[in-house]
Parts: sequence; structure tokens; C-alpha cells
Amino acid sequence: MKLERVLPFSRTLLKKAVQPGAIAVDATIGNGHDTLLLAELVGEDGKVYGFDIQEEALIHTQERLKEHKLLDRVELFQKGHEEVQAVIPSIYHGKVTAAIFNLGYLPGGDKAVVTRPETTISAIQQLIELLAPEGMIVLVIYHGHEEGALERDELLQFVQKLDQQQVHVLQYRFLNQQNNPPFIVAIEKR
Ligand SMILES: C[S@@+](CC[C@H](N)C(=O)[O-])C[C@H]1O[C@@H](n2cnc3c(N)ncnc32)[C@H](O)[C@@H]1O
Repeated sequence: MKLERVLPFSRTLLKKAVQPGAIAVDATIGNGHDTLLLAELVGEDGKVYGFDIQEEALIHTQERLKEHKLLDRVELFQKGHEEVQAVIPSIYHGKVTAAIFNLGYLPGGDKAVVTRPETTISAIQQLIELLAPEGMIVLVIYHGHEEGALERDELLQFVQKLDQQQVHVLQYRFLNQQNNPPFIVAIEKR
């Protein structure tokens, strides 16, 4: 298939948005796959801020970063992403070039702990303020579980109303696949 699949496309967007020296955010670190990618992309002069409410996620991600000797470029917080503006130092406000959210539950973890529309939307609103021009927020929306379907609906309503003078909003989604595969919404600040 020549069309890029959904998860690789999220990484393509991050690679476009994050240059060496950048400030980037992993809003849902989980097992740390995206945190690791961002740590590689920001280089030794950049910084990644990672958030997850589960201790398990921080432990797995720390291990992964240590294995790759990239822990020093990353600060991990056992806090909700809705605290992003308070956590990121004010010198970096307006300088964040990318943020990624993988919504839903931690693979292999507690399926009762899921992202929620109110906190996801609050974090997106804060991040739009924190972004540099042409900075990007990538949302990977998992909607195969009940709460995921509700979160999808609220998020789509919210992002469709964002001011086009302020941001571009893209949906990247295969329309004829079975079983509700994840899809992407990307928000780029103008
Ligand atoms: C789909 S997983 C992330 C997968 C991750 N990108 C990876 O590479 O493994 C979603 C994560 O979001 C976390 N989460 C739920 N609510 C959150 C919140 N308010 N702030 C930050 N993380 C949250 C969950 O604990 C879970 O680990």
C-alpha cells in the first residue's frame, strides 16, 4: 500500500515539526515509544516534556530512555496533561514545536484508566497557546472502546470550531476499514 498508514503518519508529522534544539511534548507517554522518538528528534540541545497519570508509564518510559541513553533530554511528570501550561517553564511558552497525544488506555495496562475529553481539550487549548508558529499538535484518536467513541465525538466537535485564522486542522483517516482503527487529527498553529 502506498498510502501511509495512520501510526507511521503520526511519526512523519512529528519528524516534520521537530528539529534539533526543539521543545516538544509527549502528552500521554504510556510505554514511551513517542517519547523516545521525540528525544531523538530534539537532539542534545532540545527538551521533551512527558506526561502520564500512571506511575507504570513513567517507569517503562524511563527504562526505555535509559537503554537509549536519552534520559537527560527528557523530563517526565506523573501529572495530567491538563497541567501542561503550569509545568512547562515560561521561557518556553510560544516555543513548543510539537505535541503528541495517543488517546485511550495504556496497552497491556489498566483499561479503566483512559484519557477523558474535558482534560484532553483543556490540554489542547493550553498547548495551542504554547506552540511556536507552525508548531503542531498530533492527536491519535482510538475510538474502539466506549469512552473512546465519546472522546472522539467531543474532540471532533471542538477542533472543527477552532479559528482558521489561528490554526489549520487536518483529519487523516481511512474510511472503509473495519473495527474502528485509530485516526489522526493534526492542529498546526499559523
Ligand atoms: C494509548 S496510551 C499512550 C501510548 C504511548 N504513546 C506509547 O507509546 O505506549 C494513553 C496513556 O494516556 C494516559 N493518560 C490518561 N489520562 C491522562 C492525562 N489526563 N494526562 C496524561 N496522560 C493520561 C494513560 O495513563 C495511558 O498511559
